[in-house]
Amino acid sequence: MLLTVLVSVAFLRFVIAQDTSIATVKRAFEKAKLPQALGLEFNPKCLLEVVFHTNVLKAPIPVTAGMTIFKNDTTIRPTFSLAFPNHRNVDTLEASKVFGRGPFVICMLDPDAPTPQNTTLGPVRHFLATDFYINPDASGFQLVNKTPAINNWNPPNPTKGVDAHRYAIFLFKQPPQFDGQSLINATTPIIRWNISQFVNSTGLGQPIGGTFMMIAPVAPAFDFVISLLV
Ligand SMILES: *[C@@H]1O[C@H](CO)[C@@H](O)[C@H](O)[C@H]1NC(C)=O
Ligand SMILES: *[C@@H]1O[C@H](CO)[C@@H](O)[C@H](O)[C@H]1NC(C)=O
Ligand SMILES: *[C@@H]1O[C@H](CO)[C@@H](O)[C@H](O)[C@H]1NC(C)=O
Ligand SMILES: *[C@@H]1O[C@H](CO)[C@@H](O)[C@H](O)[C@H]1NC(C)=O
Ligand SMILES: *[C@@H]1O[C@H](CO)[C@@H](O)[C@H](O)[C@H]1NC(C)=O
Repeated sequence: MLLTVLVSVAFLRFVIAQDTSIATVKRAFEKAKLPQALGLEFNPKCLLEVVFHTNVLKAPIPVTAGMTIFKNDTTIRPTFSLAFPNHRNVDTLEASKVFGRGPFVICMLDPDAPTPQNTTLGPVRHFLATDFYINPDASGFQLVNKTPAINNWNPPNPTKGVDAHRYAIFLFKQPPQFDGQSLINATTPIIRWNISQFVNSTGLGQPIGGTFMMIAPVAPAFDFVISLLV
């Protein structure tokens, strides 16, 4: 019985918990002071849907901007999709009129390392991958890539006893010359990543979408139940 209730609550959350407003996402970023922390201008043109899949027994976890997630639920690279508010039924062709089918670049970074109070190691680059295209075989605008990531998914891992870190995930339109960039490869240190400098030097430009989450080493179970309900 309890299991049934938990499962249905989880699925309810899956259905209702995607962000549906670009303005809301932008405000959440501003409230969290992420654009200023990273030196980026954040004027999203679309929604970036990020969904964590943990195991078959648990409902997928869609990220709404600023939500708290357990770090153990983020160990596997999430799936990414583009979404256009109020245009959930537009077809791939329609979407491609807005941005093309790709390619896109996606990255995740943590400005709060080692702690939100002492950010001397941040921003830390947790993921950087190129050549995402809208998957024509999937429903919606799922983004898939077939090339190796520059930095593979490196799961959030805030140290014990610190406050929650902000983990921002951004979507960029990938310019034609970007694959030739030589500023970052798999062996470049991931700490102190000046993304502001990086987007300027590589011509990547400002993000067109994004979301973020708060991840603490351990969240009280009570908060987790609340987060399921809101
Ligand atoms: C992560 O930990 C929380 C709290 O202990 C638990 O509810 C959740 O099921 C865990 N997730 C996974 C994938 O084990
Ligand atoms: C800030 O973090 C760095 C790296 O872990 C550490 O070397 C330094 O002592 C810390 N500074 C303070 C004031 O805690
Ligand atoms: C990776 O980039 C560093 C500079 O950051 C460079 O020294 C190194 O040769 C590059 N490695 C590869 C495999 O390109
Ligand atoms: C990135 O570099 C610019 C210019 O060098 C500097 O003004 C800015 O403070 C740096 N940002 C971070 C987060 O270190
Ligand atoms: C990157 O370009 C933006 C907009 O032109 C500018 O505001 C920012 O200071 C630049 N950042 C760096 C690190 O040069």
